[in-house]
Amino acid sequence: MQTAVALLALLALSSATPVSPPQPNDLPKPIRGRQLDVSAAPCAQVSQGLYFANGTTKPSVTAVPAKAAFDCMNSVPFNASSGKALVDALKPYVQWQSTLNLLKNPPAEYAQKVQPAIDILGGLDKMKADIDAGLYKSEYDFGWKLYTLIQSAHDGHFTFIPDSIGSIFTYGRTTPLVSVSEDGTKLPSVFAFQDVLGAQFKNISYTPSPVVQINGEDVKKYLEDLSQYGSLQDRDALYNNMFYSLAQVSLGSNGAGTGMFAGGGRGRYVYPGPTTTLTFANGSSSTTENFARVLQSFRQIQTGEDVADHYFYYNAAASLENFDETISSQNVAAAAPLGYPSPVVAGPNNLINAFYIDAPGYEDVAVLQVPNFVGTNAAEVPFQRTTQAFIPKALADGKKKLIIDVQANGGGTILQGYDMFKQLFPSIDPYGANRFRAIESIDLIGQSFSAWSSKLPRVPTKNSTILDIQSSPFDYHADTTVDGGRWSSWAEKFGPVKGSIDNYTSTMRWNLSDVTVTYSSGGINVTGYGPLSNVTQPTFEGANIVLLTDGYCASTCTILSELLTKQAGVKTIALGGRSNKNKIQAIGGVKGVNNYGFQFIQQLAARAVRIAPADRKEEFNKSVLATDYKSELVFARSTNGGGANVRDGLRKNDTSGIPLQFVYEAADCRLYYTAEMTVDATAMWKAAADAAWGGKGKCVTPAAYGKRGSDEVTTSLKTKVASETVSKLALLKFNSFEKTLDLQTDCKLTGDGFMDP
Ligand SMILES: *[C@@H]1O[C@H](CO)[C@@H](O)[C@H](O)[C@H]1NC(C)=O
Ligand SMILES: *[C@@H]1O[C@H](CO)[C@@H](O)[C@H](O)[C@H]1NC(C)=O
Ligand SMILES: *[C@@H]1O[C@H](CO)[C@@H](O)[C@H](O)[C@H]1NC(C)=O
Ligand SMILES: *[C@@H]1O[C@H](CO)[C@@H](O)[C@H](O)[C@H]1NC(C)=O
Ligand SMILES: *[C@@H]1O[C@H](CO)[C@@H](O)[C@H](O)[C@H]1NC(C)=O
Ligand SMILES: *[C@@H]1O[C@H](CO)[C@@H](O)[C@H](O)[C@H]1NC(C)=O
Ligand SMILES: *[C@@H]1O[C@H](CO)[C@@H](O)[C@H](O)[C@H]1NC(C)=O
Ligand SMILES: *[C@@H]1O[C@H](CO)[C@@H](O)[C@H](O)[C@H]1NC(C)=O
Ligand SMILES: *[C@@H]1O[C@H](CO)[C@@H](O)[C@H](O)[C@H]1NC(C)=O
Ligand SMILES: *[C@@H]1O[C@H](CO)[C@@H](O)[C@H](O)[C@H]1NC(C)=O
Ligand SMILES: *[C@@H]1O[C@H](CO)[C@@H](O)[C@H](O)[C@H]1NC(C)=O
Repeated sequence: MQTAVALLALLALSSATPVSPPQPNDLPKPIRGRQLDVSAAPCAQVSQGLYFANGTTKPSVTAVPAKAAFDCMNSVPFNASSGKALVDALKPYVQWQSTLNLLKNPPAEYAQKVQPAIDILGGLDKMKADIDAGLYKSEYDFGWKLYTLIQSAHDGHFTFIPDSIGSIFTYGRTTPLVSVSEDGTKLPSVFAFQDVLGAQFKNISYTPSPVVQINGEDVKKYLEDLSQYGSLQDRDALYNNMFYSLAQVSLGSNGAGTGMFAGGGRGRYVYPGPTTTLTFANGSSSTTENFARVLQSFRQIQTGEDVADHYFYYNAAASLENFDETISSQNVAAAAPLGYPSPVVAGPNNLINAFYIDAPGYEDVAVLQVPNFVGTNAAEVPFQRTTQAFIPKALADGKKKLIIDVQANGGGTILQGYDMFKQLFPSIDPYGANRFRAIESIDLIGQSFSAWSSKLPRVPTKNSTILDIQSSPFDYHADTTVDGGRWSSWAEKFGPVKGSIDNYTSTMRWNLSDVTVTYSSGGINVTGYGPLSNVTQPTFEGANIVLLTDGYCASTCTILSELLTKQAGVKTIALGGRSNKNKIQAIGGVKGVNNYGFQFIQQLAARAVRIAPADRKEEFNKSVLATDYKSELVFARSTNGGGANVRDGLRKNDTSGIPLQFVYEAADCRLYYTAEMTVDATAMWKAAADAAWGGKGKCVTPAAYGKRGSDEVTTSLKTKVASETVSKLALLKFNSFEKTLDLQTDCKLTGDGFMDP
């Protein structure tokens, strides 16, 4: 536990150090010139952890003990009037969440196997009542309730991270874990990742032993309970997300780091307690101090009130005139990464890479590893080109079989998902139907945008004002009907289609031939359409493609998986899951097909008012668009601005009207992770190829276990690894990764079908 020790030394608080006096030249200046000397105040402790008494910054300290940070946040008094205004300001945005009413009243199978019902609007009303009743003890107390209310929807597109939860501190543990099966058939057990590395290196003196308890509680129960704070809906995918994963690590700060348990992904918002005690099966235990990353300057911060003065914008100004009317395009969606071999075709920023399996028996297998569909604008074209270069090369090199490895894929640019499907299956018309909730705001925006656009021709243009509107679904000329036909009016596109649980717009599909496609896609033409309509060559057969997942497949990733599995007959293999013998789902992340940031919704509202038809200006000026989206509180008081899933994905030929998000679907095959797979991606691909085509796979089947009567749990780690260099590199990189504590996982990428880690 080398890293843990080093960290503790860094974090040691010298309680003898006097509180540093305010330094007049330090920035930022406190808003109130308070002179306090509360040496015991937790926020002062945080400050002392970061700065010497003379005011200079302690070198290489970026973290403080978790408890000091948590106590500091809890010492920020609750501002009831701002809290109540925030809840009110959030409500119009929450109405955009496409599953709002279904979340309250979900299908029985979803409620039983996936997640319980949750009444979001009722929860917001309850929060207001609790504010009036004086029930919130601190800003943190309020922020945590608000955060977990939205998070309990388990929709990765639907987020609101209050300032008190994500803007000042985030948390972590020094010990990443993995859950592995010794031989791929025994039930997996939890190990410290350091033990896996030590076993690979064979330079540890002890025999690694599984973790049986965390903080005195059964390890599985502890991790399953904690995993429920994740963004995914599926419980096995949530469990996987607790652990170190090569695919997540390959994404650097755009992934979930070394796992939620260690403070990656949504784990960073959950206070882990002061320490973590792991108890091992061999009877020994270890206790390490948990840490908080400090995201703001704590110079001159002494109290919770100081934190509020500097960083909580209780009174954010509001006016429609101040709306930023620039609608940013929503439709934008190295060396080999650690633990992966050298790619045969390398894509941009490790967002996509293609590999062969360099081992006897796997000569005809190729791997397209796609942990993301997002590029910066600049990466869109190279992303598409990777697959364009890879497919003909793989076919020419005699590859017959393809593993599409989408582990850790939180989505990205919607049209990249369609494009990849069309590159593989040029002859299939991708379905991909979707709809919005039929709410008044959307109707009004559609009326305004459609009227404006109807005065202009729909022709190729470089004018981004025109493109913003003509590419938007609120212009009825965009998209097609379910049958691929044209919409005759906004009224027809809006509907609504009335249902017993909710009302929706008409069901629509992307028009992939549209003149706005290149704009919506961030720069690519979609294969099979427009200038690329000449691409018609068959590639791999559906039966020779397998989709490999770890359950963390969300958003655009689920658009692709739906097209592959339902329209092209591709089978799925899901890795990991809870330590049991049950089937698991391959797709465990949000299956909604479009997210809008709340700020983007505000911009849509502002623009709709501004461009409203001349004879309706007054009406729009008084409408909900002008009244409900004015407040800046939602943005000022959150870490990420918040966002909603605005479009449901719908299945072809489905008449139930139930969006894919609520459909449970077991994977065709489940494989346990082994220790080797946590350090060597090739080990996963071999296991997947064996299961898909080799006739010697280890798909978990309840029947096989029943027959063998084998319920064995993994108690030791196999120490054989494919490549010594892989594990050596893994340890070195792992150590430096941990030392930097740079697990911010702030997603710098933008995307219209993307779930933040
Ligand atoms: C501030 O104090 C630290 C620790 O005592 C010391 O190392 C550093 O040189 C001092 N810096 C200045 C500018 O006095
Ligand atoms: C509380 O928030 C209100 C705005 O709702 C603001 O006017 C007031 O100054 C805040 N109180 C404190 C103590 O910051
Ligand atoms: C094992 O070897 C690696 C590489 O030499 C080293 O970094 C690591 O500290 C060693 N581990 C132990 C427990 O000695
Ligand atoms: C027991 O297992 C833990 C975790 O692998 C290890 O750190 C410890 O050294 C082991 N203790 C003994 C006595 O082998
Ligand atoms: C873009 O089109 C709008 C609407 O026709 C027009 O008002 C605007 O001037 C155009 N912008 C540019 C840069 O041509
Ligand atoms: C659907 O719309 C109708 C009005 O057209 C309304 O009366 C009804 O309450 C709506 N249903 C739901 C579930 O919102
Ligand atoms: C799709 O877009 C193209 C180009 O803008 C247009 O010609 C075609 O009519 C559209 N299809 C539908 C169904 O709207
Ligand atoms: C998309 O097609 C247009 C029209 O043929 C072409 O000008 C453009 O270069 C293409 N874009 C890419 C990224 O290939
Ligand atoms: C399709 O057409 C584009 C240019 O229009 C060309 O670059 C490309 O090679 C063609 N592809 C095929 C498969 O014919
Ligand atoms: C819209 O409202 C704003 C302020 O509420 C007002 O200044 C403006 O004149 C109104 N415009 C119209 C056309 O009603
Ligand atoms: C949908 O139904 C059509 C005709 O009924 C059938 O040919 C097609 O295979 C079905 N598609 C899917 C995805 O089930």
